[in-house]
Amino acid sequence: MPHRPPSREAGVGSESPNLDFTGTTPYEDYVQADVLTHLQHPLSDDPGEMVFLVTTQVMELWFTVIVHEWETACRALREDRMPVAMDALKRSVRELEALNASWRPLSQLTPGQFNAYRGALGEGSGFQSAMYRRLEFLLGEKSSSMLVPHRGAPRVHAELEKALLEPSLYDEVLHLLARRGHALPRAVLKRDLSQRYEPSAEVEAAWAEIYSGDRDADLARLGEALTDVGELVWRWRNDHLVATRRAMGAKTGTGGSAGVAWLEKRAAKNVFPELWTARSHV
Ligand code: HEM
Repeated sequence: MPHRPPSREAGVGSESPNLDFTGTTPYEDYVQADVLTHLQHPLSDDPGEMVFLVTTQVMELWFTVIVHEWETACRALREDRMPVAMDALKRSVRELEALNASWRPLSQLTPGQFNAYRGALGEGSGFQSAMYRRLEFLLGEKSSSMLVPHRGAPRVHAELEKALLEPSLYDEVLHLLARRGHALPRAVLKRDLSQRYEPSAEVEAAWAEIYSGDRDADLARLGEALTDVGELVWRWRNDHLVATRRAMGAKTGTGGSAGVAWLEKRAAKNVFPELWTARSHV
């Protein structure tokens, strides 16, 4: 945190913090805490809604940090700067742990407690989170139909469209594997980036080879960092699923889906599929 030299000492000792600022504090100028702590506008009178709203906002902030880390990792991988990519991926693993820990306040929500403000949410649903969608796109889970809800918000739509058309984190990793001599098919390396990544037998064989020898120890470490990411995303999805099952059983979602039945299918997906299936061949 940058500090200005104290203009006047507060309190008795010379070690007391500075109290005297012209205008807003340097902390406020940096953190914008006044903006951040006035973005909470519950839609009901229920006192339990505040933690639902703030948990959602906190998760949006973590999504934003994690997207930033993975975009950093993408650029670094493209430029063969492995240490930079690894640092960003490892930071994202700790951040995913913090993201997942933030389920705690909502994890035991009862249907009665949720019903107290559920109606006020109208058709609002986390399904409409653009930052979560960017996160999924970076994992290779692309879908152009996920842009449709954001047609009315030009900046959000443009950012999401850019993410749809750019290589995912996994695409960048697979290009690195190819540059390092692993035989990956053209269909993988030249794939239509706007489509969902589909698992490939050759990619699975490349990971099995990487994990079997010592030639590519750094790629094996990269594979493990990605496996950590995949596991923690899977855990987020499953924690969300269980919290939803507890809070609303088999009711339909506010976003219009079948609710738990729909989330079960989403949570069953494996992130970076070949990193899991290759393990049977090592
Ligand atoms: C315990 C409270 C919660 C319940 C009952 C719940 C319920 C649901 C349901 C039923 C869906 C499916 C779409 C729909 O029809 O609405 C959904 C999707 C989603 N929710 Fe939640 N949710 C909760 C908390 C949260 C929180 C705190 C976040 C944080 C941002 C979140 C983010 C998401 C996301 C990103 C999706 C889309 C998942 C996907 O596309 O696979 N949810 N939620």
